[in-house]
Amino acid sequence: MIGSRIVQLNIHLSKVQFNFYHQTSMASLLVPPTSIRGKNSLDYEAFNITLKNIPCVVLADQYLRQFINKLRPFFLKFRSFKSVQSLETIDGQYIVYLDPRKIKNVTDVLKKEILWNKLYKEVELKLSYINWQPHEVLNAILPEDIEVPTSFSQVGHIIHLNLRNEQLPYKNVIGQVYLDKIPNVKTVVNKVNIIDNVYRNFAMEILAGEQNTMVSVKENGCIYHFDFSKVYWNPRLGTEHFALVNFMKKGDVLYDIFAGVGPFAVPSARKGIRVLANDLNPESYKWLVKNAQVNKVTDLLMAFNKDGREFLKVDVKKDIVERREKNDNGSEHIVMNLPALAVEFLDVFENWLSSEEIDKVCLNPPVVHVYCFIKASKSDDFYALAKLYIEKKLGYNLPSESLLNIHQVRNIASNKEMMRVSFLLTKNMLKEEPAMKKLKHVNDNDDDNFLGNNGEEQEQDKECI
Ligand SMILES: C[S@@+](CC[C@H](N)C(=O)[O-])C[C@H]1O[C@@H](n2cnc3c(N)ncnc32)[C@H](O)[C@@H]1O
Repeated sequence: MIGSRIVQLNIHLSKVQFNFYHQTSMASLLVPPTSIRGKNSLDYEAFNITLKNIPCVVLADQYLRQFINKLRPFFLKFRSFKSVQSLETIDGQYIVYLDPRKIKNVTDVLKKEILWNKLYKEVELKLSYINWQPHEVLNAILPEDIEVPTSFSQVGHIIHLNLRNEQLPYKNVIGQVYLDKIPNVKTVVNKVNIIDNVYRNFAMEILAGEQNTMVSVKENGCIYHFDFSKVYWNPRLGTEHFALVNFMKKGDVLYDIFAGVGPFAVPSARKGIRVLANDLNPESYKWLVKNAQVNKVTDLLMAFNKDGREFLKVDVKKDIVERREKNDNGSEHIVMNLPALAVEFLDVFENWLSSEEIDKVCLNPPVVHVYCFIKASKSDDFYALAKLYIEKKLGYNLPSESLLNIHQVRNIASNKEMMRVSFLLTKNMLKEEPAMKKLKHVNDNDDDNFLGNNGEEQEQDKECI
């Protein structure tokens, strides 16, 4: 039994003798028993073990204060276990558990300084399931040739795993271990396929815990509610959401073409940016509206539920043209975060506006922030490739005065990056000028060079896109 006070302590006086053999045999004991290897159900009792000959020193509190910093590097560490505990039987006395794998050195350190022979003990230590880290438990359970899943995302109370095929026979035990071990988790899910649907959510299987996928999460100071099984949400995009909102200024306007449940839209409105936010998924739209209410930004955020192309062609255009007529201040930002497909929407800007509208709109050109995936080898220049890709889709070389920024958002898989390209919608981009379109439709099959297969995540090791 382990706690802050020792309930049972079997102290054996021993001579301070350690040799290499002792250290290695102890090391192999400091992991959970392997008798459970290959089981696909969790036998909690199997993790109850007693470690013998655990080195420790028993110190009165004044010595503890004196030596604690010297002893600290040698502490024996387990989950939910205190390396220093007060002795229940003797007031003012403390036991400091030491790691037998490091004891050779501690002998050297302390021998000269304290009455080592009197203070040094070896004790028995009982451990149970609570004392092992999730990877230690899973290392003991999974067959040796199966890698322990260590990366996962947490979305509210949900742990989201992306298990490999060979891990699937153990999916329930893996789910249970994460449910038991990660604080505040109530549900563990596994992604059952790659994201290849329109709404970018993924089918999921609940492995352990409550059958509840309704979550509340906080990101960049805003609260979001949504059903994780029905909408897109990626906790790894928080930094990007922050960066883009930070880039925009109070008084600007955001047109969020693929808004999801609002992680760009809601904080922007909070900042005093007027927002027109759209998503095709009715479920995302429902939560976008709700999240605008919850975060008290309904006066600045208008939500739409339509195809992004239609939204750009009709609503965004109308709003920008009206703003020019009213001589409104501030910049306009068109944000297109649908990395696998957003570039296919760039052709909307051809014939988007009449000549007269182009002249007015380009007095203060709107900024487009388009996201894409770039697949290339590590030595390649992802920035140059992203620029090339957007130019190819626009059918226009982006001159330096139009190109505002190219940003590496995050790594998706080995040799695959999510990139953001920000550029000004200048006159020549909006005008259909055949000479400028020479890049267009040339080598359309080259897309595979940028995207990989279907522009989708094929590797199983990373999370949703
Ligand atoms: C990658 S998610 C991005 C969501 C959000 N902007 C974010 O950063 O988390 C893309 C979103 O685009 C939506 N979507 C997909 N196709 C669309 C389309 N043709 N028109 C509008 N929205 C679309 C999906 O429902 C999804 O919510």
